[in-house]
Amino acid sequence: MKKSVLVTGANGQLGKCIEELSLNFEELNFIFKSSKELDITSFNSAKAIFEKHQFNYCINCAAYTAVDLAEDEKEKAFAVNAEGVKHLAILSKDYNTSLIHISTDFVFDGLKNTPYTETDSPNPINVYGASKLQGEQYIKELLDTYFIFRTSWLYSEYGNNFVKTMLRLSKERQELNVVNDQIGSPTYAKDLAEVILKVIKEDNTNYGMYHFSNKGETSWFGFAQEIFKQKNIQVNLLPTTSENYKTKAKRPMFSVLDNSKSLKKLGVIQKSWKKSLTNCLKLSNS
Ligand SMILES: NC(=O)c1ccc[n+]([C@@H]2O[C@H](COP(=O)([O-])OP(=O)(O)OC[C@H]3O[C@@H](n4cnc5c(N)ncnc54)[C@H](OP(=O)(O)O)[C@@H]3O)[C@@H](O)[C@H]2O)c1
Repeated sequence: MKKSVLVTGANGQLGKCIEELSLNFEELNFIFKSSKELDITSFNSAKAIFEKHQFNYCINCAAYTAVDLAEDEKEKAFAVNAEGVKHLAILSKDYNTSLIHISTDFVFDGLKNTPYTETDSPNPINVYGASKLQGEQYIKELLDTYFIFRTSWLYSEYGNNFVKTMLRLSKERQELNVVNDQIGSPTYAKDLAEVILKVIKEDNTNYGMYHFSNKGETSWFGFAQEIFKQKNIQVNLLPTTSENYKTKAKRPMFSVLDNSKSLKKLGVIQKSWKKSLTNCLKLSNS
């Protein structure tokens, strides 16, 4: 029998990437639910869907991802990223479903200067990071059959992200200021989607917490520079500091993730961030 897979938050960028790649997985039966069709903050609506289908896997792409707004909407952020995730963990346990959940580099405070491993202690410095950490903790407490993938700086041809913002701003402005003192690893959401589908296809049972990002590190300024270089766009790009470019939410200054465990236990291939950016830009019409 085909394995059945629920995808929540299916209209977000990761959900869309999974939907696109799902066409290559005829052996899997996918059910995609947008936020309108399944609001994970409602336990009863989620339960009704779990009750109706016997899912082998639930991929949770649903999240409150507005990092700055979360500072003013703490309850909303926790309702989705913590309580909503708790609902999925309870239901996954009750219905014998493996839960694949996505978390973030923003659970870390960014004070390290070498890549973060899964055993490093989280210490979020903003509401979004705290809400995502709470979600992780619920899963760990309630379930054994889970994969949590912490990832960083996600972008794709779908949804809102840094790549699309830079391409848009380059058409609207002569000059762009981008911070060059926050360091991380840009990650193509389609590469993460591939990792998730590989785990399901192979019925991997090395459950637990994993870090997955593209290979290499850069600043947001370096990321912008590479986008414009690859697209051959002339724009006056200027480096600035976090001190000069204040945002509502604080961001970790360094959030590179160590991928060794994913490489070893899941056999994933970590593409370089520049190569993955090329793959994404080939598909973007902007
Ligand atoms: N984006 C990044 O840079 C980044 C970095 C690290 C980790 N992550 C994590 O990666 C995952 C995927 O991120 P993404 O960039 O694909 O996010 P995204 O594009 O913002 O998509 C999130 C989706 O979740 C949906 N959603 C929000 N509240 C919901 C609810 N109560 N019930 C069901 N669905 C709900 C949203 O629907 P509506 O649009 O209708 O609200 C949206 O379609 C998230 O867990 C995120 O925390 C992202």
